[in-house]
Amino acid sequence: MDIIAVDTPTAVQVRAWHSVVTAVQAFDNPEEPPQTLEQTAGRLTAPPPNSRLLLWIAAVDGVTAGVAYLRLPADRDAGRPAEIDVLVHPAYRRRGIGSRLLGRAAEAVREHGRPAVVAQAIAGTPAVPFLESQGFQCVLVLTGLLLRLEDVDPAWLADTLAAGPPGYGLVRWKGAVPDELADAFAQAKLAMVDVPADGSATERMHWDADRLREMADMVAKRGDDLYTVAAVRGDVIAGFTEIVVPGGSAERAAQYDTAVVPGHRGRRIGIWVKAAMLEWLRTERPDVREIETDNADDNVHMLAVNDELGFRRQREYRDYQAEASDLPGPAGR
Ligand SMILES: CC(C)(COP(=O)(O)OP(=O)(O)OC[C@H]1O[C@@H](n2cnc3c(N)ncnc32)[C@H](O)[C@@H]1OP(=O)(O)O)[C@@H](O)C(=O)NCCC(=O)NCCS
Repeated sequence: MDIIAVDTPTAVQVRAWHSVVTAVQAFDNPEEPPQTLEQTAGRLTAPPPNSRLLLWIAAVDGVTAGVAYLRLPADRDAGRPAEIDVLVHPAYRRRGIGSRLLGRAAEAVREHGRPAVVAQAIAGTPAVPFLESQGFQCVLVLTGLLLRLEDVDPAWLADTLAAGPPGYGLVRWKGAVPDELADAFAQAKLAMVDVPADGSATERMHWDADRLREMADMVAKRGDDLYTVAAVRGDVIAGFTEIVVPGGSAERAAQYDTAVVPGHRGRRIGIWVKAAMLEWLRTERPDVREIETDNADDNVHMLAVNDELGFRRQREYRDYQAEASDLPGPAGR
């Protein structure tokens, strides 16, 4: 078996990568709509803002049997953990391919001086014993939720929209935040900092107007559409919710961030902006049938909001983290 570092993936490599992704998805997560080739290509060629991707392919007799994706945050975020995703085709498992790929990524994490690495596993899949065998510890349990838009009661939606808190208004935009709202929106995004994350630090990001534009650019480069609804009071954004509709397969949209700024909590602003988003999608994007999200199990307020909206619990995810020194390899354990 050879492990090949991939710099800029060729079209052939993207297709080979995609065939591993779809085989893994069909085996470990068959209820999920399959990722499209465009989505795979976007993920490999348009990294999230301020980060660098390192990619490896494991080839067995010329066939791509596994892949590894490592995202290193840029230097200004050098204290944040790197993110790793290792995928091995179901026909090639338990032969040490996952461990070899992880070992290469671990070397890169240490070479680039990153302190730690995070990974996500679906509970009940081989990823759990794999990550635990490689020095990772579970730092957060998340519940995956799904809302079918046809299950949303129109009367409930109209009542919730009409019951907005006095003194607040709603604004919405598609794509990048308009310039006049950019600073206020960056302030509101900082409210995500106190999302319970049990020390995993994945949400502890510094936001400013440039970073917001970079994030919107990244979504657009992947061919996806970003929708944002915000509650405003004077010049302040008090709360917001973001949805991304994938370009190639609009049926299932993804919930991105939702937050209410601390001084504005307790006024049902979270549910109000989410209801306004549902109403907007209903008219603007009738091709969207479902919204998926996940919530940390200790984020009781957001779970309550999502229960009221009609989200159903699907499956459990586990976020794992390892210190660079706990990962396998010459300079690790
Ligand atoms: C997780 C995954 C990458 C493991 O790949 P792999 O090539 O089978 O892993 P390895 O052969 O290197 O396994 C290393 C160790 O992990 C543990 N392990 C892996 N799969 C396991 C399973 N199904 N049951 C129990 N232990 C398992 C074992 O300790 C194994 O060592 P052993 O075979 O000597 O007992 C693969 O199952 C996969 O692609 N899963 C879907 C993608 C995913 O969820 N990735 C996790 C995020 S990084």
